Amino acid sequence: MKLVSVKSGVLEVLEKNRGDYVSGEALAEQLSCSRTAVWKAVKGLREEGYQISSVTNRGYLLEEGNDILSAEGVCQALGTEAIPVYVYKEVDSTNVCLRQKLVNHPELFPGEAAVLAEAQTKGKGRSGRGFSSPTGDGLYMSILVRPGKSVRESLCIRAAAAVAVYRGVKKVLGIDLAIQWVNDLYYQEHKVCGILTEAAEDFETGDIAYAIVGIGLRLFDSDQGDRGIFTRDSPRVDRNLLAAEIIRAFLEEAPREEISHLYRERSQQPGSSTVLVRDGRRERITVREILEDGRLVAEHESGLEEILTYGETVPEEETVMSR
Ligand code: BTN
Repeated sequence: MKLVSVKSGVLEVLEKNRGDYVSGEALAEQLSCSRTAVWKAVKGLREEGYQISSVTNRGYLLEEGNDILSAEGVCQALGTEAIPVYVYKEVDSTNVCLRQKLVNHPELFPGEAAVLAEAQTKGKGRSGRGFSSPTGDGLYMSILVRPGKSVRESLCIRAAAAVAVYRGVKKVLGIDLAIQWVNDLYYQEHKVCGILTEAAEDFETGDIAYAIVGIGLRLFDSDQGDRGIFTRDSPRVDRNLLAAEIIRAFLEEAPREEISHLYRERSQQPGSSTVLVRDGRRERITVREILEDGRLVAEHESGLEEILTYGETVPEEETVMSR
């Protein structure tokens, strides 16, 4: 067995037993390697930043508060629903990385998959914006799905992603985020999550060949001035668990034909006014209704009603620059 796979195996077993000791002997036996190989793997993991305690006669323990993203950690939390998960220290953009992997090795991606990174150097936002993604402050993740429907029939996917983030954050952090149409999530009046959905169409069938749903969740305030859910000095969050719960919720939500009741409950309510940002223009609108497929029925100040398919809405007091 190569050292790299011993390392991954050790991490997997320690993740499974997070907070409990596992003896070096048990690890060596499970991974069919020597205790020296286990020791070397633990050394390597510690060098990568994993907090692993060791006590003579008890073995090794992965600390509960350990906050390093790992494929093993995410898959462990996903359990039987695990999909291929790739975790990187740094990529340009997880959406780009996932698409490249898919294009270069389609045989490895028959179904869903996810790519996560601790940091992105060229994080992509909607409408050509960037998305600043400093190390350790957030969760930057892209999920591959194959809706098997046309673009028009797949609009719900954007709402499904927003609901998945809502559900994951609620379950792991106990916090209720608000959804701002189409799929931004807000905490205490500031945006903490943006979602960028990119799709490739199959020209033969007119269906979406695949969709890559990129989720950028700001957990902690960053040095660059972006607000997160928590302040910089707040206790760390188990991002492996959070990622897993968001993936799990998304895989449940994505096949829906209609938006979930949670989307309507957490979004702007009929009669409320908001600012529509579309094609570089901003205008105040009144929300009339959110349709089953996630489109928004808006009333312009002129009194004219329009069904919106794309665009974004921001709270009235927020400026585009502050996003
Ligand atoms: C927006 O608010 O404009 C959308 C931001 C989407 C950011 C996420 S971070 C993970 C994924 N990779 C990217 O390059 N972008 C998305």
